[in-house]
Amino acid sequence: MDSLLIAAFASRRNAHAPFSGFLVGAAVECADGRVFGGCNIESSSYGLTVCAERTAVFSAVAAGECHFRRLAIATEASRLTPPCGACRQVLWDLCGDIPILLGNAAGDTLSFQLSHLYPDPFDANSLA
Ligand code: THU
Repeated sequence: MDSLLIAAFASRRNAHAPFSGFLVGAAVECADGRVFGGCNIESSSYGLTVCAERTAVFSAVAAGECHFRRLAIATEASRLTPPCGACRQVLWDLCGDIPILLGNAAGDTLSFQLSHLYPDPFDANSLA
């Protein structure tokens, strides 16, 4: 298995999802090779929940990283889990058109460019 997916599965062990029971792990690989993991963290005020993808990328940015190579998402779902709409926006803003690698516990994998998942995005250019 791809080492970035292995990192995403490792982060998934930290998922805090008492309301949905849906555990998600993510890992982002930075241009300098460093890898930051993230997991979903749910709140009893459901809308405050943060997805694994954003946790991973925000951790990397908070550590001073700003160039990213790819991101992996790990769940146990038989239908591989793509990033939600909010995460697509944030990933586009912070990472640009990187490959997004999806994987599950059965060993299924898929990879998409973010521009395939999020065509015609709103971004900084839209504000000009
Ligand atoms: N979730 C993620 O962490 N990433 C996704 O791409 C989809 C959804 C989380 C949010 C919530 O904790 C749970 O999965 C169910 O929506």
